[in-house]
Parts: sequence; structure tokens; C-alpha cells
Amino acid sequence: AQTVSRDGDGVVTVGGIPVTRLAEEYGTPAYVLDEADFRARARAWRGAFGTDADVFYAGKAFLSRAVVRWLHDEGLNLDVCSGTELVTALSAGMPADRIAFHGNNKSVAEIERAVEAGVGRIVLDSFQEIVRVAHIAQSLGKRQRVQIRITVGVEAHTHEFIATAHEDQKFGIPLAGGQAAEAVRRALQLDGLELIGIHSHIGSQIFDMSGFEVAAHRVVGLLRDIRDEHGVELPEIDLGGGLGIAYTSADDPREPHEIAKALTEIVTRECESARLRTPRISVEPGRAIVGPTAFTLYEVGTIKPLDGLRTYVSVDGGMSDNIRTALYDAEYSVALVSRTSDAEPMLVRVVGKHCESGDIVVKDAFLPADLAPGDLIAVPATGAYCRSMASNYNHALRPPVVAVHEGKARVIVRRETEDDLLRLDVG
Ligand code: LLP
Repeated sequence: AQTVSRDGDGVVTVGGIPVTRLAEEYGTPAYVLDEADFRARARAWRGAFGTDADVFYAGKAFLSRAVVRWLHDEGLNLDVCSGTELVTALSAGMPADRIAFHGNNKSVAEIERAVEAGVGRIVLDSFQEIVRVAHIAQSLGKRQRVQIRITVGVEAHTHEFIATAHEDQKFGIPLAGGQAAEAVRRALQLDGLELIGIHSHIGSQIFDMSGFEVAAHRVVGLLRDIRDEHGVELPEIDLGGGLGIAYTSADDPREPHEIAKALTEIVTRECESARLRTPRISVEPGRAIVGPTAFTLYEVGTIKPLDGLRTYVSVDGGMSDNIRTALYDAEYSVALVSRTSDAEPMLVRVVGKHCESGDIVVKDAFLPADLAPGDLIAVPATGAYCRSMASNYNHALRPPVVAVHEGKARVIVRRETEDDLLRLDVG
């Protein structure tokens, strides 16, 4: 978050509010999201790409109605990947034509809902889906705007589980073997579809632009082949999301304007050499917008020094509110936020309260040696893929998202209650 500082007593304040007050009012663990920072990042992306391109925020990173309204205000579009994300977006007033619908196995009901609502595009992910969407659109008397998602065959330098452009995985239609060209052929023949472009998403938490360069080269190559074979120039290309953020000081992310400049230059250059009109570009950043805008506030419970190893600091949440460390070996930092301390730093591992040893929030970090139960600690950069991937493991109640803005805090997603969970248990 941007509006973070320490007050005279050493208490961290965010958006003008001390974390101690947030903990008292809303409890811990809690995700604290800085609205001004979110809006500033959304605006920076929008501004960087200008009016010749579209920015679709990837709702999977974190979606709530407040977020949808902020995006709407700031002129961004939205990428959803389930019927429920779609309903969330529509119910918060996002116009359907600014929504893109993704997924490798959208259900018939989800597709019907999206087509009926009039979403701006559906991103087709398989041969079955090409036929399915065409059929549904036609039976509803509509022509649905679609893109085809292809896998361009690049290895993005990121964790295996979040890399998506190599061919041996579930997303997209491979460029290799002429499969993507065949998908285009079929889509162009179907009356229910208006093929507007090609989509590529190479993976997540990427810093190196060379993967995008290769992807753009291959997508434009396909556009050229389509022109040569069918005499049509598709008007759009989407290069997906995946831009990395700083989880620790070791990461050095690029600014949106640098990314926009690089991507626009690559596409323009490739199109010039293929003698194509430059298509309208769109991108789908999720993490890069919401990731840095929130931190998780925890209360320290137990502290267990293990001689010669490290000290285990247990907090009142864990893998149920942040699965990323366990799942991707993700790196985070942590800070004592309810006071300052002059004590020596000690090597800690911040762990949760769940029943398994992989329940780690921060693998290696330093906290002051006088850390005590009741202290508040914060883990920054938890805005993306933390609340959205939260679980009820051990019947944990998922934490609230508290938005702070200009000295005011408000809950935008409330904490789950025991009643919420027990209501589902109808046996
Ligand atoms: N567009 C498409 C088609 C995607 O599949 C994704 C992410 C995005 C955009 C947004 O990517 P971003 O800019 O947020 O990196 N749970 C993982 C990340 C999974 C990303 C899935 N798709 C994590 O916590 O790292």
C-alpha cells in the first residue's frame, strides 16, 4: 500500500488509520486494502495504454463489488472466469460489453448467461467450445464476439503451476501443428460467432519481457496467416496478464508505462514486418493492480525458539488466508507494525494455526527478538490471490477485506461467521 507510514508511537498507519485501531475494530487476521493505491494503479495502467488499447482487470486476483465500482470509475474493463464472477461484476454495475469471459471448461449455463448478458467477448479455449458458444449464441438469436486463446509455445520464467504458454497444459489451443489455424477456420464459418481476435496469456509473476516478445511475434504470425488464407485482418490481440510485482525487495517490477510502451512497440513492429494493420491491443493485469495494494494483518500467538535453527512465530491465520507460500514456494516479507523495537533481529518463520507443517506464511524473515504474543505483524503484497484463494481448512472463517481511504475504513468483504459455515452443513 502507498499510504503507509509510522505515527509518533511507532504504530503503522495506512490511509491515515493506525493498524491497532483496525485490529480492534475488525479483528485479525484481516486483509487491509488501500483504495487510493488500488485506484492509482488502475489509473496508471489505463493511462499507460491510452485510448487505443483496453485494460481488462483479471478478477480472479481479487473481486468484490467495491473493486468492480472502482474499476468502472477508472475506465477499466474486467476479465471474469466463472459465472459467479460474472454475476458479481454485473451486480456491481459493470456494463456487460466491458466484460471478457474466460475459462477452459465454461459450463453451458455459464455460456448462456454470458451471451444473454451481452458480454463484450468470450475467449474460446477449445474446439468443443467454439461449437458450443456458436450454438448457444445462435439459439439466442445473437452473434457473440469471441477471441481464440492459443498457446504459443514459450516457456515463461516462472513457477511451473502458473506458466501457461507451453503446449503441455490445459489452457488454449496450440499454435503447433496448425491447430490454432484450424480453430480459426471453424470459428470463421459459424454464424453465431464474430471472431475479433487472438488471445495469449503466457503465465504469471513474470519480469522478463522476452516471453511477451515471442508471444506477440507468434500471434502476429497467426494473424498474417489468417489474412493470407481468409483475406480478413482480425482487429484485436490480447496479450493476457502476468506482470510481476515486488513481494520482497529482491523483485524489481516494471512500471505500467514501460510495459505498455514495450508491448505496443513489439506488436507494431511485428505488424509492420507482416504488413498488417496494427490491431487493437488488450491486456489483463490482475496481480499488478491489486497485489501491492493490500497487506494481511495478523496477531502473534505463540513464539517457539528452536535452538540453532530459527524461531517459529505462529499467527492467527495461515494457509487458509494465504496458500501461495505452500503452493508456489512464494516469498513474502513481514514487519512488526503495532510498535517499534530496538531489539536485535531474529530469524523467524511465520506459520499459521493449521494442522500441517507446510502451513507457512513467510519462510524466512527477521523480526525483533523482543517480539511478544499480542504484537501485530503485517505481510505486505497480499492483495492478489490470497482472499480469492482462501479456504475454510480446519473450518477457518475467511478474513474480511477492509478498505481504507482518506482516514476512513470500511468492510468491503465481511468476515465469515460460524453461522455462515454451519448454514452450509445441512446433514
Ligand atoms: N489473464 C488470464 C487469461 C489469466 O489466466 C490470468 C491469470 C490473468 C490474466 C491474470 O494474471 P496476473 O496478471 O494476475 O498474473 N494463483 C496464482 C496465479 C494464477 C493466475 C491465473 N491466471 C498465484 O497466486 O500466483
